[in-house]
Amino acid sequence: MSSKILIIGACGQIGSELTYKLRSLYGDENVVASDISYNNLDIVNTGIFEIADAQDYASIKTCVEKHQIDTVYLMAAMLSATGEKYPMKAWDLNMTSLFNVLNLARDKFIKRVFWPSSIAVYGSTTPTEYTPQYTIMEPSTVYGITKQVGERWCEYYHKKYNIDVRSIRYPGIISWKTPPGGGTTDYAVEIYHEAIKAKSYKCFLKEDTELPMMFMDDAIKATVDIMTAKSKNVKIRSSYNLAAISFTPQEVAASIKKHIPEFKITYAPDYRQDIASTWPKSINDSYAREDWKWKHAFSLEDITEEMLFQLGKKYNTISKASQ
Ligand code: SER
Repeated sequence: MSSKILIIGACGQIGSELTYKLRSLYGDENVVASDISYNNLDIVNTGIFEIADAQDYASIKTCVEKHQIDTVYLMAAMLSATGEKYPMKAWDLNMTSLFNVLNLARDKFIKRVFWPSSIAVYGSTTPTEYTPQYTIMEPSTVYGITKQVGERWCEYYHKKYNIDVRSIRYPGIISWKTPPGGGTTDYAVEIYHEAIKAKSYKCFLKEDTELPMMFMDDAIKATVDIMTAKSKNVKIRSSYNLAAISFTPQEVAASIKKHIPEFKITYAPDYRQDIASTWPKSINDSYAREDWKWKHAFSLEDITEEMLFQLGKKYNTISKASQ
């Protein structure tokens, strides 16, 4: 099936790596990256790129029509920690962008939509261990509320307008190419940067805060897997639980120490601890594993090895360039 793809939010942590992957799978000429500004020159300069505002229906529609897009990946969002600072902005961005894309599908300008949800849909009344797909969902962050409401709208548009919308609940995503921004799980990326740069890290979560996490390569694989699955196998049209591993700051620090013995971690929990404390420790993703054969590949040890290797190279290059 030939497809022309638009990625909204292509300069961000997940959007950028999804752009590289989709370009390699479908060809540069079939993938249009877009964002609100030119803030990732690697993405802007290596393929088709458009400035588009996810909150402006006309801006997205113009881009869709210009490039005859049939599939949209909506990766623009304000995450949990920033969302608590700007609740109304988070609500506006996360909901308006989703409605813009769903309405483009309803009005038959596009055929398929990918929209990410998150473990943030869960709250303090949810069972925390091996959280099931169907359970209590009382999110306490604005971000979580937008994701939970968004899931209901995705399912509604699928049932009411027969829109092919697909979604997964990402856990914390660990990657080295593009930095994350404004998330509660971002500590699990920062810790590797600081391990290389300073051999120490002050963590904004408590040592025993266990959260579900995943390496970027697995997250991208899951995204491609669900989008290429046969429609009849995508049985859940709200959003699928998705899991790989779970760990605490203490555990990730221990895995770093195996490579950098002098690495030190200290703890100074802030407002993000209150967010993390309401999220599950681990996730039951058996529906994804059953319906479209999801399987993760990266363990914590694999992630640590890859992060330290890639970031080591990156900072080495930067320091050589500045000499
Ligand atoms: N990584 C996100 C956050 O921390 C959760 O989806 O906000």
